[in-house]
Amino acid sequence: MKHKDHERFITSSFLNFFTHIIGFGFGLLIGISLTSYLSKTFSLNFQIQQFLLPSLGAKPQLSPPLSPPPPSIIPITSTNVSVLVSNNKTKVASNTNEKRVIKKSKTRKGLSDFLEPPIAMHDMSEEELLWRASMVPKIQKTPFKQTPKVAFMFLTKGAVLLAPLWERFFKGHEGFYSIYVHSEPSFSETVPQSSVFHDRRIPSKEVKWGENSMIEAERRLLANALLDFSNQRFVLLSESCIPLFNFSTIYTYLINSTKVYVETLDVKTNVGRGRYNSNMMPQIDLSQWRKGSQWFQIDRELAIEIVSDELYFPVFKNHCNPPCYSDEHYIPTMVNIKFLMRTASRTLTWVDWSKGGPHPSKFIRPDVTIDFLKQLRHGSSCDYNGQTTNICHLFARKFTPHALDRLLRFAPKLMQFN
Ligand SMILES: *[C@@H]1O[C@H](CO)[C@@H](O)[C@H](O)[C@H]1NC(C)=O
Ligand SMILES: *[C@@H]1O[C@H](CO)[C@@H](O)[C@H](O)[C@H]1NC(C)=O
Ligand SMILES: *[C@@H]1O[C@H](CO)[C@@H](O)[C@H](O)[C@H]1NC(C)=O
Ligand SMILES: *[C@@H]1O[C@H](CO)[C@@H](O)[C@H](O)[C@H]1NC(C)=O
Repeated sequence: MKHKDHERFITSSFLNFFTHIIGFGFGLLIGISLTSYLSKTFSLNFQIQQFLLPSLGAKPQLSPPLSPPPPSIIPITSTNVSVLVSNNKTKVASNTNEKRVIKKSKTRKGLSDFLEPPIAMHDMSEEELLWRASMVPKIQKTPFKQTPKVAFMFLTKGAVLLAPLWERFFKGHEGFYSIYVHSEPSFSETVPQSSVFHDRRIPSKEVKWGENSMIEAERRLLANALLDFSNQRFVLLSESCIPLFNFSTIYTYLINSTKVYVETLDVKTNVGRGRYNSNMMPQIDLSQWRKGSQWFQIDRELAIEIVSDELYFPVFKNHCNPPCYSDEHYIPTMVNIKFLMRTASRTLTWVDWSKGGPHPSKFIRPDVTIDFLKQLRHGSSCDYNGQTTNICHLFARKFTPHALDRLLRFAPKLMQFN
């Protein structure tokens, strides 16, 4: 169309010439006012604009100009360029050399940049973090290959007390796991660069035992771990947890599992149903109320449901406060209502409640024997992907640092580390 106009322009009468000049002048006027309007309106959005309109930005370079170009066409072209790429760096260049404009503008990165997980410590607010973590790609098939990873999320007060054992556990399996640590904001410790825990602390807030700040911290850990698209399984651990098997056994067990591991017990006594509050209606009724271990092992789908839950979370914040302990009821109840078919209704973290009371037994040095660890590894049977197995627990708690030297001694042989 334009090309034809141009031919006519060369061969036709003065009348046509003037019509064209007027038309063009009008166009130029619109162009200029549009430029100044757009550059005002969109100057803040420049980065986004540039990202969203890559083909437009590159256009002047790709399509050859009309031949031969009347000198007056050039301002229009550079006008378009400065609309699309209207930062001050390029404006200067647009008068001189357009090719340089494109090269000098911020280098566009493709998918690899998008997939790169952010560093654990970031400056997103809680609201920003949860929103970003809740993203789900609508196209299921991924146009790239990624090794699925297991996210090990440590919810601690201070240091990961049994870190030397975990270091041994992770050694040699880089690329198959990610680590996240949520600890008290007041805690400060420099983790050596050689450690797997180096730079793995996430922006954390104070956590009070048994209060809602606990489930907030769990959601915060999940949200941070979700930012890495390759994380496919999510394991919540405390500073007193130990692994009962080597990395490859635990990895395969989790990645290959058809179920998630959230305990959903209907405990009819005062430490179960007794903690239900009828103000939780209509979102949660008594028959739906469940109790379970805080220490879950879940998949990406459920992790996204938890961080984006706006229905049950506020109910717990408002109506489940000590002696209602939300960390024992929030995820179990939500899973029972919405995802019951997806859970094995058990936890993979062994713990000893046999002595009663609000806290489970702690294990110190003399407790750690080969027989005891064998019992934890294979002492029971359960269902795994429709088959009976004698591996029912992959992790155990609560172990104190006094147990560490024995664990380090027994682990290589018994648990076949390395
Ligand atoms: C410049 O903008 C005009 C009007 O929006 C458009 O018709 C023309 O194709 C653009 N030129 C380039 C090189 O993008
Ligand atoms: C470009 O912007 C920077 C900061 O935004 C400013 O300091 C600089 O003077 C500007 N340069 C031009 C040529 O407008
Ligand atoms: C999962 O199980 C299949 C078949 O049982 C096996 O081929 C595959 O290697 C397992 N995946 C992992 C991560 O071990
Ligand atoms: C891990 O332990 C299993 C037995 O639980 C063993 O068969 C396997 O060889 C061990 N893997 C490595 C890498 O040592």
